This record gives sequence, C-alpha cells and structure tokens, in this order.
Amino acid sequence: MGIQYNESKKIFHIQGKSVSYIFKADKYNNLIHLYYGKKIRNINDNVINTNKAKSWSIIPNEEDDQYALDSALLEYPTFGHVDLRSGALSIEQENGSRILNLKYDSHKIIKGKKGIEGLPATYADENEAETLEIALIDEVTNLLVVLNYTVFNDRNVITKSVQIINKGYQTLKVLNAQSCCVDYRNSDYELLQLSGAWARERQIVKRQLVQGIQSIGSARGTSSHVHNPFMALMSPDTTEENGEVFGFNLVYSGNFLGEVSVSEHNRTRVLMGINPLNFSWQLKPEERFQTPEVVMVYSNEGLGGMSSEYHSLYRENLMRGTWKEKQRPIVINNWEATYFDFTRESLEDIVKKASEIGVELFVLDDGWFGKRDDDTCSLGDWYVNTDKIEGGLEKLAKNVNNMDMDFGLWFEPEMISPDSDLYRNHSDWCLHVENRERVTCRYQLVLNLSKKEVCDYIIESVSKVLSSAPIKYVKWDMNRYLTDVMSMDLPRDRQMETSHRYMLGLYYIMEEIVTRHKDILFEGCSGGGGRFDPGILYYMPQIWTSDDSDAIERLKIQYSTSLVYPPVSMGSHVSSTPNHQVGRTTPLNTRGNVAMSGNFGYELDLTKYNDKQISEIKEQIDFYKENRQLIQYGDYYRLNNPFEENNGAWIFVSKDKTEAILFYTTILAEPNPVDQQVRCRGLNEEFNYKIDGLEGIFGGDELMNLGLTLPELKDFESVRFRIRKA
Ligand code: GLA
Repeated sequence: MGIQYNESKKIFHIQGKSVSYIFKADKYNNLIHLYYGKKIRNINDNVINTNKAKSWSIIPNEEDDQYALDSALLEYPTFGHVDLRSGALSIEQENGSRILNLKYDSHKIIKGKKGIEGLPATYADENEAETLEIALIDEVTNLLVVLNYTVFNDRNVITKSVQIINKGYQTLKVLNAQSCCVDYRNSDYELLQLSGAWARERQIVKRQLVQGIQSIGSARGTSSHVHNPFMALMSPDTTEENGEVFGFNLVYSGNFLGEVSVSEHNRTRVLMGINPLNFSWQLKPEERFQTPEVVMVYSNEGLGGMSSEYHSLYRENLMRGTWKEKQRPIVINNWEATYFDFTRESLEDIVKKASEIGVELFVLDDGWFGKRDDDTCSLGDWYVNTDKIEGGLEKLAKNVNNMDMDFGLWFEPEMISPDSDLYRNHSDWCLHVENRERVTCRYQLVLNLSKKEVCDYIIESVSKVLSSAPIKYVKWDMNRYLTDVMSMDLPRDRQMETSHRYMLGLYYIMEEIVTRHKDILFEGCSGGGGRFDPGILYYMPQIWTSDDSDAIERLKIQYSTSLVYPPVSMGSHVSSTPNHQVGRTTPLNTRGNVAMSGNFGYELDLTKYNDKQISEIKEQIDFYKENRQLIQYGDYYRLNNPFEENNGAWIFVSKDKTEAILFYTTILAEPNPVDQQVRCRGLNEEFNYKIDGLEGIFGGDELMNLGLTLPELKDFESVRFRIRKA
C-alpha cells in the first residue's frame, strides 16, 4: 500500500485499499499513464505502448519514428506540440506562444498530506495517507509544474492538485490549469453527471461516451444548480452493487469544467478543474498558481461502493470543527412559515409550540435586518430591524433560550442591495463594469470579494452580529449568479483573475468566520443547492439541499445528492401542503420520513396545526432523536431508484450492523398492485433481526435476498421499519 517507485523503470505505483494507479517517466522523460483500476501487484510495461505511432501521428523525433504521443495516455498533457487533444495546461508566454513541453524532472514521496493554502481540501495525517509530488519542467520557459497525488491508505481515494511555478524570467499568463487529467485506453464507459436547475438540483443524467467532447461545467460564479462539480465514468451495466466506477469531484465552489473527450482511437481523456472560460492568471517570476483539488474515487462495487467511499472520506477527512462528529440539532426555520412577514411576538409563538414538542433550534431566516420587508433592499446592512424584532436579537435569542431552544440566524453576506446603506456608502464595492448598467438579480448585486477591504467588512459585520447574541447556528445563503465580473482594482490584462479571486476571498472570509466562531453550526445554502460542493463542506458541515421541500421531489434530489455527499451533509425539512414549490399535497408522515433522512427540521407555522398533527410531529421528533446517531453517522445505502421506479427506498445501518432503519415511499399507487418487496443492503447475513411492528424473526440473509414485503400504499404514502438484531 502507499506509493512505490521502481527506480530502474521509473514507474510510479500508487496503491490504495483496492485501487492501483500507475504511470512512468519514459525514455524521453514524458509522463505516460499506464493503469487506473482494481489493485494489481505489478505491471508489465514492456507490452503496453500506447505511444506507438499511428497513421498521421505527430513524430517528435524522426529517428524514433515509431514513437508518438498524440494517441498515448498522458499524465498531464499540453496542447499543440506533440498532442492535439484537449490539454490540461495552457500558458501564454511573452512571445504569444502557448506551447509547452513538460518533462519529468524529479519527485518526492512524503507521509501524510499537505494543506492547500487558501483553498479547501481533504486532509490526512501521516498514518492515513502518502503524497507523491512530481516536478515537471518546461526547459524553454523554465516553468515548473508540480503534480500532487495523495493516496489514502485505507480508502479507494486518490486526490490530485497542481502547482504552477514560474522559475523563468518572463511574465507568464496561465490560461488553463486543470487539477486533474486521467487518460483511459478505450471509451467503453457511460458518463454520469448530476445536472438540473433551481429546485431540481443534481438529477442523475447518464450518457454513452462518443467520439468528441462531452462536458459539464459552470461559468456562473458558483458551482451552481445546473451541474454539480462531479462526474463519473462507469463500465457498461453498472448498478448500485456491481461495475467499475471512477468518480471525480472538484473541491471548489466556483466556475468549473468537467470534460470527457474521446479521440479518433477511442482514447478517453477526463479533465477537471477551474473553468478556463473567463479565467486567466498572471505569473511573474517566482510566482505560483495553485489549482483546487480533485477527489477521485475508484469502485469495483458499483455506485454504492463509490458513494460509501465519498461519504466516509467527507465525514472524516473533509468536514472539520466542533460539529464534525456531533449530532446535529432538529431545527425549525420560519422561512416557508412566515416569509418576510413576522414580528418578535409572532416568531416566539412558533418557537413556543416547537419547544413543547422537542425541536432544538430556531432559525430566523431572511428579513430580520436593515429595512427588509421583501427582497428589494438591505442586503449588506447587517444590523437588526428593531421595528420587527422589538428589543433586538439578544432579546429574541434569550427568549428562545428560555423556551429551551437554541437560536440561529440567516445571512447572505456576499450580497449588496442597491437600496442599502452599504451601497449608499460604497457603491464601488460590487462587481460591475464602469459606465455600464449594473445588472441585478433578485434586486441585488454581488460584492467584489477580490477586494480585501470588502472581505474584511463582511468578516467584521457578520462577526459583530454573531457576538451580539447567543447565536448557535448560521445559514449562509447566496442568492444569485455572478455577472459583470470585473474588478476595477486590477489592470486590463488581469481582469480574468476576478472570478477565482472572488473564490479565494470567499474562502478567506469563511475560514476567518468559522475559526472565530468555533462552536456555531454553519449551514451553507445558495438558493437551496446552488453551491452544494465539497469546497463549502470544508467550512460548513451541512448544506440546504434544495429550495424544493416537496417530499416527492426530494426523493430524487436526496437520492442523487447521496451519490457523492453523505446524508449528514444534507439539510432537509418538513414543509406545509400544498407544497409551495410544486403545489403537491403529501401526507405528514411521508414528509417526516423523507426529511428525517438528512439533517431534520421543519419550515412550518406550528401555531396553525391541530393537536393530532402536533402529536404526529412530536412522534417524528422523538423517533429522530432516538435514531439520530444511526441516521447521521451510520452507513447509508440506496435501495430503490426513484428515477427508474415508482418509489424510493433507502436504509441506514449501524457500523456494527445490529441496527437499521429502512424507509420506503410510494410515488403513484397502482390499482390492483403486484406484491412489492424491497431488498435490504448492509445487514449481516448471519444475524437475526426483529422489526418493530412485525412478528417473528428475520434472518439478515432473508432480508437481503428475499427482502421485506411491503404493505399496499396509496399515492405518496410512506413507511419506515426499525430493524434491530434479535
Ligand atoms: C434562499 C434560501 C431559502 C431562503 C431564502 C430567503 O432562497 O434557499 O431557504 O432562506 O433564500 O430569502
């Protein structure tokens, strides 16, 4: 396990739990990729020669006319010299050329994993991982490129990132610097991506690879609702439990690109990194550029195998801080209950009801600050509106505390309303192009986080509020995409740095605020799931999954989000019916079951609920509290796929396999239905189990092979089964 280097053959073999990744520096010091897949002991590199010239090949050296790179598997290719496929790196030089010829120079193998300055990344100590740093040099420019590979010993995870260092005398411009490139020998894969839109984020989309380029990405300033920065290649007929899967997830919350290209010889190239559209970075001598990290997961146990690797990695080696392993509270949020229309008293009425039934934290959503009674004003003015909250936040928070609940608050720190004191004082603080109309979305502009003084204003103004009252939770929202991305502080030829500088500013702010307020639980949000990515999870261990709170829509959204992200990262709440996003009416029990499969909460005006409903809600809360450790930190398995079936089913299983909860929800009922069985996963075949409410003993083998017989359910009805070792 770890990283082996065969010095005579210059072969690097990176080995994780059951994965091998192998490449070599060849006779010309070109880095040739050899293998990525199920763990093997060794490789016979004499026979693999993907660098054999083909008709019309580009021959770098006529004396060796069988040698070519334009169809070879390459570790970190550049375009235009010896390869004409999409490159991983493009650097404009002073003479206008973008040609590079990177050659292996040296390498280092170190224990553990270094942090990436200014950017979120997975972390590991010396016993958990090994890191390989490969230095490549372009002789003409003296450009040094360091490829970092970290392998986690007990996982099937390899991370990649790249540093680009100008060791020469000219000023260079990075035009494209992908974090990761993986070349495959053939194209016999399906591409899986998580794509959608606001309120239907991260829907599963699959397509067969074909010759040409297929890509996902964002140029919206956030990772976005449209495409998650994740994609996977799957062998044909991959299922939850079988098949080879290669997952790629970028630890970055801004513009990104995920590109898969298939060449004329069916070679497949995967690239992932910052989107080169609207990007460049100036590199003066001795300056360096750091790419974000890509987390690559290998599974030969289907999509389920991939997900379990991502889940445990993100819970243990990405999330940080006080709340990393702590049980997350049950919240009530007033957004869908009141929108902007509330007073301290009306909120306290809701809190009182919530407290009586065991809710643990009240979140005051949008509308508490400045003069904000609708979404047209006040973003940036982070001081309480005492007309609405008489006595201020401190009084409200204390009253909430006196009702035995904690208090949390909504912010949208990256924004500025044109109608705000902040804008009246600093109209130049937003992203804008001089002499052009400023384009608002939801009546708001975006602060220019590439400016340090703007970041510091956010840190100080948010911190001031957080210190002014006993605040235990923050919902950090971000409600528009970035347009007119320009920073008046930068010269003309550096404007394309602004988007990435915005991200560096955002991460600086988040790091500072979460460090200063260590005990606060932060939840990320961007109009729901518009920035649901590992970059945010590094700072904030949970994210509001979607503004769509309809239980049936959530079946799909939570199913597909769980491909990569663990349930403990997903905020999910019960909301009222008819649902505000889709108008659907679903049973309270179903809404409870779906919402309690993540970080549970409510968006209800409980004062409007009758005794029967309140006691049903209390029963949900009691059940969740009893089973919270299992749901938040147990192993999660998808059972039935709501994209393909007329229901959704999933199960949480404790690490020792003695406890489990299975949830099943029908979408549309069938008349005169056939029997419905659901097969469990993750149990111990040898154990015997009891199921609350059902008679007799069930073998683990029975539950996983024959499955559990379900009652006949009507439209949108749901059941849950509490399973315990007998
Ligand atoms: C976004 C969030 C919602 C709510 C509103 C408030 O849309 O996703 O949950 O906080 O903003 O304006």
